[in-house]
Amino acid sequence: MIKQAIIPLAGLGTRLLPLTSVFAKELLPINGKAGIEYILDECIEAGIKEVIFIISQKKIMIKKYFYNDKFYKDIIKRKNDLRILNEYKKILKYKKMIKFVFQDKPLGTGDAVLKTKNIIKDDFFLMLLPDDLIVKKNCSKTMIAIHKKFNSSVMASMKVDKKEVSRWGIYDIKKKINNENFIIKSVVEKPSVKQAPSRNAVIGRYILPKTIFSKLSKLKPGKGGEIHITDAIQLLIDDNDKFIGHNFSGKYLDCGTMNGYINSTLEIAKI
Ligand code: UTP
Repeated sequence: MIKQAIIPLAGLGTRLLPLTSVFAKELLPINGKAGIEYILDECIEAGIKEVIFIISQKKIMIKKYFYNDKFYKDIIKRKNDLRILNEYKKILKYKKMIKFVFQDKPLGTGDAVLKTKNIIKDDFFLMLLPDDLIVKKNCSKTMIAIHKKFNSSVMASMKVDKKEVSRWGIYDIKKKINNENFIIKSVVEKPSVKQAPSRNAVIGRYILPKTIFSKLSKLKPGKGGEIHITDAIQLLIDDNDKFIGHNFSGKYLDCGTMNGYINSTLEIAKI
């Protein structure tokens, strides 16, 4: 079973400036609830027992959000407010399952993942990118079931517009398993329209093998000078590791851009 999840949170969030000049985007409210709480709820419902947050000193407010006990205790003593008490209980529930590791410099998602090397216990773990909300159906839960069935790594995916391929990791299909699941032949980070092997984009949910750490530790910076998780995945595929692309059926909400963030609130309010 997959029991551990990791969440990279140490990026700069430049697409949401100026908000992110002082604020962690993952704490911004989406329909009144911090974005990161949707991700944590997805993990809990999928049976995850431990979540590792990769943060930086610039994002220390994320840790404070879960470690503000004195503040809550004082308020609860002064005000007899059941809502506040319930909010505090919820924070305590999350806090119990979160560990923090630090990435000092934002050298890329691959470098962020490498920081969790000494904490991952089992052969496989889940990774969620918090900019990517998937609602209406628990994508992580479905992917864990697929992993169990095929004993392989899994990445969430969806078809994107040809014009948009350079925003994503794009994969090519080796073999179709069924209408939702495909064995991946290769994956490339943010290709140009010309270079893209398909329109199959990787979305921020991954079930990765522990063996990825040895690939990451040898990886040189790739596109844009960053160490990409996609490049380590390609090295594993080169070694004949099985990766399945899963076309998820929930609704995808992109919270990493201003338009996407605004739209996420509108969409979640409709549910
Ligand atoms: P992105 O590169 O898509 O987003 O990283 P970003 O850096 O947060 O924001 P922009 O692109 O400047 O607007 C995807 C995820 O990986 C994390 C980010 O926090 C985000 O959740 N990340 C990225 C790290 O933890 N470390 C890094 O070095 C890079």
